[in-house]
Amino acid sequence: MTVSGLTSQALHGCFVTGTDTAVGKTHVSAALLHWCAQQGWRSAGLKPVAAGTLLIDGRPVNEDVQALRQAGSVRLTDAEVGPLQFKAACAPQIAAALENRCIDQATILSAAHHLASRADVIVVEGVGGFCVPLGPDWDTADLALALGLPVVMVVGLRLGCISHALLTAEAIRVRQLPLAGWIASTVDPDMAHSEGNLASLRHELTRRHQAPCLGVVPWMPAPTPAAVANHLDAAALKRVLEPMLFVSPFSPEKT
Ligand SMILES: Nc1ncnc2c1ncn2[C@@H]1O[C@H](COP(=O)(O)OP(=O)(O)OP(=O)(O)O)[C@@H](O)[C@H]1O
Ligand SMILES: [Mg+2]
Repeated sequence: MTVSGLTSQALHGCFVTGTDTAVGKTHVSAALLHWCAQQGWRSAGLKPVAAGTLLIDGRPVNEDVQALRQAGSVRLTDAEVGPLQFKAACAPQIAAALENRCIDQATILSAAHHLASRADVIVVEGVGGFCVPLGPDWDTADLALALGLPVVMVVGLRLGCISHALLTAEAIRVRQLPLAGWIASTVDPDMAHSEGNLASLRHELTRRHQAPCLGVVPWMPAPTPAAVANHLDAAALKRVLEPMLFVSPFSPEKT
């Protein structure tokens, strides 16, 4: 596939989507970057569209971009990790319109291929849930398809998550994207029957989608990338991620 003159080289890594906004995609993406770096792979995070910046020392800063930049093992700038950042913390299409800007797919694909030229694996954090509009005629599912990366789904453990997870998995399958697996993220520490919900998620996502659980992240007061990575299933991750990488000689330090 050649997109607007970009390289046709396949990307290696994954696209992290979620059952909703605020379900733990950033914490999980940062943990995946950390875990990949621990395997000795050069890892780079991409937040293709980031809505919500704070002015710090006169500079617009987005939390997700910072978290992914710090968790990866390749030294990158904010602009490389977050090529399209908008001020307002709202739906991305609206945030872009407020600044009379648009969300350009070529900019994102170019950023992804640039990172891929510096890393063995890229972890792309989606925006909100799986089908968030990015313009009048495309959405985040189209972006995942254009990137051609397998999808990792973060399930925010809260009431309603089973149906949200199954709907998201169906939307992924309809686009013929591989669902590499799912990771449960405990965003509600007081959720009733969380074990029962997890059992149902495991059963249904295996039965309908053959999608393995890649980890169950408990609620933590300080969910750092290393702490979250401790709750990923290393064997399952290796099984699904390793075949997607061409592991080359690398240096695990920041390059
Ligand atoms: N395991 C956890 N333990 C404690 N708090 C968590 C955990 N996972 C997520 N959170 C909290 O839940 C909130 C949402 O997490 P996060 O920012 O990772 O979600 P997101 O899906 O990336 O959201 P967005 O759609 O805005 O990108 C944050 O306040 C985060 O600190
Ligand atoms: Mg996030």
